Amino acid sequence: MIYDNHGRPITYLRLAVTDRCNLRCFYCMPEAGVKYLHKSKLMTYEEMLRTVSVLSELGISKVRITGGEPFVRHNMIDFMYQLSEIEGITELNITTNGILTGQYIRQMKEMGVRSVNLSLDTLDKKRFFEIARRDEFDKVYQTLFQLLDAGFEVKVNAVVMDGQNTQDIIPLTELTKDNKVSIRFIEEMPFNGEGSHYPKLNWNAPRILAEIRSKYPDLQKLVDAPNSTSYNYQIPNYQGNIGVIAAFSRTFCGTCNRIRLTATGDLKTCLYDDGVLNIRDLLRNGISDEELKNTFINVFKQRPKDGFEAERNRKSIITESMTTIGG
Ligand code: GTP
Ligand code: 5AD
Ligand code: SF4
Repeated sequence: MIYDNHGRPITYLRLAVTDRCNLRCFYCMPEAGVKYLHKSKLMTYEEMLRTVSVLSELGISKVRITGGEPFVRHNMIDFMYQLSEIEGITELNITTNGILTGQYIRQMKEMGVRSVNLSLDTLDKKRFFEIARRDEFDKVYQTLFQLLDAGFEVKVNAVVMDGQNTQDIIPLTELTKDNKVSIRFIEEMPFNGEGSHYPKLNWNAPRILAEIRSKYPDLQKLVDAPNSTSYNYQIPNYQGNIGVIAAFSRTFCGTCNRIRLTATGDLKTCLYDDGVLNIRDLLRNGISDEELKNTFINVFKQRPKDGFEAERNRKSIITESMTTIGG
C-alpha cells in the first residue's frame, strides 16, 4: 500500500474512458461547440489495462469507470471484463447516465460489478430535458429499476442547482421509501466547460440537508464508510438512504484515497488540480513498468492536502468540463 505525503493510503482509481457523452447536462458541458478529442489522443484499452496493472501492484484495489458516458466508447464492456480480471482489483464500479446501461446488466453482474452510480437530477420529464437537453428521462428511469431488480447497490447522483431542480429534493428523497437505493445530492462544482460560469453555491450541503430535515424531522445519521464522499442519512422505516456530497465545500478531503486518470491519460491526484503528468505520453515514449511505478510513487508524495490547495496551485482557472475528468 502506498501512502501520500499526508498519510492517506491511495487505493482508489477513477478511470475516465471517454470524453464523449450522449447527454448535454448544462452543469457539465455547454450545449454547442463541444470539441471531442481525436481518437489518437485517447488512452487505448491496452494502455489503460497496463496502467491499472501497475497501479494494482502499488495498492490500488478499487476502480470506478467514468466518462463522459462510459458506454458510448466502443467495446467498453469487453474492456470491463479485462479490468475485472486484473489481480488485485477487488472492486470494479461504474458511474453512468443510464441511457445505454440496461443492455449490459447481465454482463456487469457476471464480471462481479457490485455498485452502479446513476446520474439523475430530477424525476420530472420536462425538467430532465431542460437540464440534460435530451429527452431521455424514461430510459434512465427504467434503467434505475432494472439495476435495482438485478441486485446492484445503486447510488443516484443528483446535482442540486439553484433555480433548476431544488423542488426535486423531496420527491427524490421519497424514492428511498420503497426502494433500497441511495440518493445522493451533490453540490454543484464549476466543471461545466465554461470558465466564465463559476456557480455561486446557493445550495450547499447544510442547506440541502436542512431542506430534507424540514420535511423529515426524524432523519437519522448513518455511520459513513471511511472514505465516503457523502454524509449519509436515513428516514426511519424507509428502505433506502440519502446522502449529501459536499463536492464544492470539500469537507471530506482529510480521508481522500483517490486519484484520477482522464481519457487522455492526464493523472490527477486531486479533482481540483490541473493534471500532474500525462501517462499516455510516458507509455508511448517507452517507459518500463518499474519506472512507471516509481513515477506514481513520486507524485503520490506530492499530493495537495485538499481541494482548496489543489485549486490554488493551478496554473490557470478551471475551464474543464466534467466530461473530460469523469467526476
Ligand atoms: P463511491 O465509489 O460510490 O464512493 O463513488 P463516488 O461518490 O466517489 O463517485 P461518483 O462518481 O458517484 O461521484 C459522485 C459525486 O461526487 C460527483 O459529483 C463527483 O464529482 C463527486 N466526487 C467524487 N469524488 C470526489 C472527490 O474526490 N472530490 C470531490 N470534491 N468530489 C468528488
Ligand atoms: N458539479 C457537481 N457534480 C457534477 N457531476 C457532473 N458535473 C458536475 C458538476 N459541475 C456529477 C454527475 C455525475 C458525477 C460523476 O459527477 O452527476 O453523476
Ligand atoms: Fe480528494 Fe481533492 Fe476530492 Fe478533496 S477535492 S476529496 S483532496 S480529490
